Amino acid sequence: MPNKINISDDIIKELIKSADNARKNAYAPYSHFKVGAALYAAKDEDNFNIITGCNVENASYPAGNCAERTAVFKAVSEGYNNFKAIAIIGGDDIYTSPCGICRQVLREFVAPNIFYVIMAKNENDYVIKTLEELLPMSFGPESLKK
Ligand code: THU
Repeated sequence: MPNKINISDDIIKELIKSADNARKNAYAPYSHFKVGAALYAAKDEDNFNIITGCNVENASYPAGNCAERTAVFKAVSEGYNNFKAIAIIGGDDIYTSPCGICRQVLREFVAPNIFYVIMAKNENDYVIKTLEELLPMSFGPESLKK
C-alpha cells in the first residue's frame, strides 16, 4: 500500500533536533555509541508533543536500554498513547536504524503502515521508512484477539 507521509518538513526537523539534543544525555560508557530519539506523541487524537530518550547502558550489559525504548516508555508512563513518528540519531555519519526489540516495542502502540521512523544523520540528511517496512508481517496486540 502506498504511504503518504503526513508530517511536515518542519516537524521532521524539530524531531531530529530534539533527538540530537537528547543524544547529549546518552549514557554509553561501554559502547561509546550515543543515541538520541524523539517520539512525536499525543495523549489523544491531537496536541502532539515531542518525548525524547537516550540510550542508558549498564555494567551488566543486557540491562541497558536503547534510546527508542527510553522514549516510548517515558511517553507511555506519562499518558501518551498516540504515536505518529520517531526520529533517531546516533551520529552524523550513519543512519541509525532501530534494533529488532525496539521495532517490536514500537509496534505495540502504532499502526505500522502509518508510523514513520526517521533515521537521521542531521536535520537535512535522513531516511524515512514506515514501521511496516522495517518490521513486515508483525505480531501485535490484534494478533492475540483473533
Ligand atoms: N542503540 C540505541 O540506543 N538505538 C539504536 O537504534 C541502536 C543501538 C544503543 C544500544 C547500545 O547502548 C548502543 O547503542 C550500542 O549498541
